[in-house]
Amino acid sequence: MKFFIDTANLEAIKEIKAMGMCDGVTTNPSLMAAEGNTDTDSVLKEICAVVQGPVSGEVTALDAEGMIAEGERLAALSEHIVVKVPTTYAGLQATAALAGKGIPVNATLIFSVNQALLMAKAGAAYVSPFVGRLDDVGEDGMQLISNILEVYEQYGYETEVIVASVRHPMHVVDSALLGADIATIPPPVIKKLVAHPLTDKGLAAFMADWDKLQGGQ
Ligand code: E4P
Repeated sequence: MKFFIDTANLEAIKEIKAMGMCDGVTTNPSLMAAEGNTDTDSVLKEICAVVQGPVSGEVTALDAEGMIAEGERLAALSEHIVVKVPTTYAGLQATAALAGKGIPVNATLIFSVNQALLMAKAGAAYVSPFVGRLDDVGEDGMQLISNILEVYEQYGYETEVIVASVRHPMHVVDSALLGADIATIPPPVIKKLVAHPLTDKGLAAFMADWDKLQGGQ
């Protein structure tokens, strides 16, 4: 399973990339706002230079014409840019147009199988179902992933499923068990993935025994 990093923070991306855990990056307007840099094109270019893999930059226009123009501008920033388009009627139109020009699209804010089906038919390279936000409203985010994977398998769609809105390690475990193509993971969750209390306890015991041994010499 590929790991994308869900952040616009360049330092975090560099750190995680150096460990071989960053196959791509996803950003959105909220993640850009969290970094406080209004020159978002420069941020995306810097991320692309580090990652050398798919980097999603989101359009902010709400109409199809605006999304297409913004998507073309974003795609010109780097060969690694994937244009993130919201899953609306206008987004569907923009996705078909951008995909027709060979520009990869990541269909975002996916909350249903039908949305994923339509965006795949429109030519999206990726779809991003938001599991955490579904869990938040009492629905089963991972069940949506399972259903989308089943439908794509049934009809041979090559659109890759990015599990998005990942909030905790179990979302990553479940993504891997279901065979999702990609999980986009916030940096704090990456740290949680490697942590286990028995590892900490075992290490503390090894160190205590080691200290005893040193003291006895
Ligand atoms: C990534 O593509 C999404 O924009 C992101 O995972 C959303 O996460 P959130 O629901 O925690 O804001």
